[in-house]
Order: sequence, then C-alpha cells, then structure tokens
Amino acid sequence: MQKDKWQRESIVYQIYPKSFCDSNADGIGDLRGLISKLDYIKELGVDVVWLSPIYASPQFDNGYDISDYETIDPIYGTIDDFDALIEQAHSRGLKIIMDLVVNHTSDRHPWFASRHDFYIWRNGKGDAPPNNWGALFGGSAWTYDETVGKYYLGLFSKHQPDLNWENSEMRHEIYAMMRRWLERGVDGFRMDVISLISKPETMPDGEITTNGYGDWSAFVPNGPRVHEFLREMRCEVLKDFDTFTVAEAAGVTLDEAKKYTSPEELDMVFHFEHMDLDGGETFKWTDREIPLDGLKQVMTKWQLGLGVANALFFNNHDQPRMVSRLGDEGIYRERSAKMLAVCLHFMQGTPFVYQGEELGMINAKFTSIDEVNDPESIDAYYSHTRSGMFTEEEMLRYISMKGRDNARTPIPWNDANRQFADADSVFHFYKNLIQLRRTHKSIIYGSYTLVDTGDLPLFAYVRQGEAETLFICCNFSRESVTYTLPTDFRDILICNNTDSTFLKTGILAPFEAIVLHRATDSV
Ligand code: GLC
Ligand code: CA
Repeated sequence: MQKDKWQRESIVYQIYPKSFCDSNADGIGDLRGLISKLDYIKELGVDVVWLSPIYASPQFDNGYDISDYETIDPIYGTIDDFDALIEQAHSRGLKIIMDLVVNHTSDRHPWFASRHDFYIWRNGKGDAPPNNWGALFGGSAWTYDETVGKYYLGLFSKHQPDLNWENSEMRHEIYAMMRRWLERGVDGFRMDVISLISKPETMPDGEITTNGYGDWSAFVPNGPRVHEFLREMRCEVLKDFDTFTVAEAAGVTLDEAKKYTSPEELDMVFHFEHMDLDGGETFKWTDREIPLDGLKQVMTKWQLGLGVANALFFNNHDQPRMVSRLGDEGIYRERSAKMLAVCLHFMQGTPFVYQGEELGMINAKFTSIDEVNDPESIDAYYSHTRSGMFTEEEMLRYISMKGRDNARTPIPWNDANRQFADADSVFHFYKNLIQLRRTHKSIIYGSYTLVDTGDLPLFAYVRQGEAETLFICCNFSRESVTYTLPTDFRDILICNNTDSTFLKTGILAPFEAIVLHRATDSV
C-alpha cells in the first residue's frame, strides 16, 4: 500500500446536482448554482467532490440512464459551465470526480439503435424470456425487441439496457470517453454498479422473490471477467492520470473487495452490508431497524478486512437519511447527527459526506404516491399494493422510511447559512472532524479494535497509531448509559455534548459521542 497517496488522505463530499443549488429558479439544481457554493464546500474542509451524473439523460433514473456520455444535460447547464466548475474547483484546491455509469446506458443512447452488439441479447424460451430475472425497478429484466427478434437485458429497467462488456470495441469506446473527461480536467470516477459489468456465461433462473421475478444477485455481481476488465481499464486509461477511483460494488464480498482495490484496479470500494441490515424478505420494504449489534459486526469485519481501502459512508443518494434511521429526528437531532459522524469518521478508510448530512438533514416523508419521484419506490408501491402484499398506507410508510427520495430533497440554504455562522452547529462539528483527520494521522493509518461493551447500546472502538491511542465511544440510544472505561484516558479530543460528565462520572448522555486520546507511550 502506498501510504502517502493523496487518495488515502482525502475526504469526499457527494453532490446530487438536481437538488443541490438552483441558480436560475427553475426548480432544478445546476452547475452555476454548484459553482456558487464551492466556498461553502471548501469551508467544510473536504478535498474531493463527487458529482452524481450530469450527462445528457432522459432522467428516467435521475441521470443514471445516460443518452450521451459526452455532453452535459441542458437542465444542468453547458460544457462551458462545466469547464468553469473544474477551473473554479481546482483554483480552490478541490478535485472533481464524476459518476461513471457504464454497466448500462439509457435506451435512448444512439448506440442502442445503431450498435446492437454493444448490448446483451438472448433468444427467448418459446414465448417466455430467456430466464426469470426481474429488473430492480420492476417487471422482467428482459424486453423483447420485435425488429431484432430477441430479448435485451436491463437489470435495472427496460430503459437502462446493460452494455455488453464482452465486446472489446465497446470497452474501448468507454475508455476513450473516460480519457476525454480526464483530459478535460476531471480527477477521477465513482464507478456505478461496476461489480455488475461482467455477466456470467450461463444465466440460470434465480430464486423467486416477493415481486414474482427471479433474483439475479446470486449470479451477476463479481462476474467472471470483472477484474480483467478493470485491469484493462487501468492499462488503457487510468494509469496515464493521477486519479481517484471508487467502486460502487453491490454484492461485494471481502475477498472480492481486496481484488477491486489492488493497485492494478481501483482505490477503494463501497460495500452495502451495513445498509442492508434493515432489509429482509420484502427487500427494503419493512419496519425493521438496523440492529446495533449487526452494525458493529459488519463495520468491524470490513475495518479489519479492508482497512484503508474502505469507502466509509452512512448516507448517499440511494439511502434514507441516517439521522432518521439510527438517530433521532426530534430534540436529539443535532446531537445524534454528530454522534453518527463521530462513529464513522474515526474509522479506517475514506469518509464520504453526502450533501445535507453536514446539516443533520432528516427524511422527507411522503403522504401520497404523487409526491414520489423514484422509479424504484413507484414500482414497489404499485406492484405490492396490487398484489395485496401491502396496503397503500403501509407502502407509503415504508417509502417514507426507506425510499431513495428521502435523500433527494433540496438543500435548505437558509439553514445552511445559519449553521455556517454557528460554532455549535452540525456543520462546524463536521468541519472539526475533518480537520482532526488532517492533524491526527492515527485516524487514517492506526489499527482498529472493537471494544466489547456487553449489552450496552454503545459502539466503542480503539484506534492505535504510532504516536497516540484513540478511544471512540458512541451512545446509540435515547437513554443515559453508564460505562466504565477499560483503561485510563484523561484527554478529550472531541465530544458532541458540551456538558459531558463522562470522564468524571462514566455517564454518557443520550446520543453522546466522545473521543479520548493519549500518547501511545504514556500508558
Ligand atoms: C447505482 C446508483 C443508483 C442507480 C443505479 C442504476 O446503484 O447509485 O442511483 O439507480 O446504480 O444506475
Ligand atoms: Ca436550475
């Protein structure tokens, strides 16, 4: 591992351009708006900004359905605005990484009409599709095309046909496109569902799920040639640039993650094991909550197994707000937002902050399906209410708890400006955490050990660096908790409760998070 790479020491801020900042009052965030907030982002202290897709798109899946990889969607602005963004970001020392969505395109991409060999086609079985796989946003994963006389694969939807990575010409088109963005000044990529690009040779039926279709998740992730393709991508394009690369790797195992993050492939990997803890048989549509024990086990497994190559996150544009999920939306909103930040930011890996997280934003809540935009939620609502699995009230409750639109509401800039000016705000707390990572290398490179806190609702761990030892303790409950420190610490590095009595009394207030430290040789 090259320990001094800037990629290892960065903190990333994710922007969902549609709802970030709208400069011309058409209701849609845009590049000019984003440029006007670069000072805000810089003030937070991050190094890298990841932009969710801004390419030309029919917006069926909010830009994750691209119809032209080489142009900016006019709802966001022009290529000149984009060049200005790169220049303005770089002049502030901020890097920009783009979303790279190359598992699939939009069905309106010109390739889909002109280059059938760039997509995945199969004959049906009699009148039925080639297998029983379902698309994530509803219906079969296979769509019959009369002119071709075959079915094409769309793992997400029929509007997002999967690209055929077996085709070398297609792959080289993608590499050339990446090269053009990198030459334009882009600093790297977040690679959308990159673990899905290599399809298995045989495509067997999957286990039937509650939507009536077969589950492909046992067959598609980490397919036979995915590592070969990523190594080829490095040789053909990435190796010529100093890039920041992160894999979105649905269905990744620890062993696979080690391969994705080898020097020949990518820098770091997102896994989703902690995000899946409140799911079940009916996918995310349940009242289940993330169990703290499960969270501790999953995070610890990845801390120990993947170390600095972890992409650390509790929020993104596909997840409900973590304060609603594991914190408190009421009187402890700010404190629980800060607690969750402590819990994540002291771990090994690269922290990702999703827009609005630094303000302690909570879920949106939906009272009618007409307020919902996300194709995933809309499909689930109609298919599960029609099949009688859930009532409309139930589905709206689940969508309010788990739906992706919860993270896609506009940033409240009035509140952001207020927090910007308030030293006790969630914003300033994030800023402090980000600064601490810069001044305490043990946060980046120290070892991680989970601390056994028995049945108490605590998540505690130790980071041991060369110069210092850190003890991180987070109370995940609405109750005060008494806990006796296993070893002696006298100094507080950061705490989300200005009235903390923990060092004197051993009492952690509701949602209190405290980080203690001492020089390593002063034990
Ligand atoms: C990724 C994106 C998600 C999108 C999907 C299909 O999971 O994060 O927003 O819907 O891929 O591109
Ligand atoms: Ca706008």
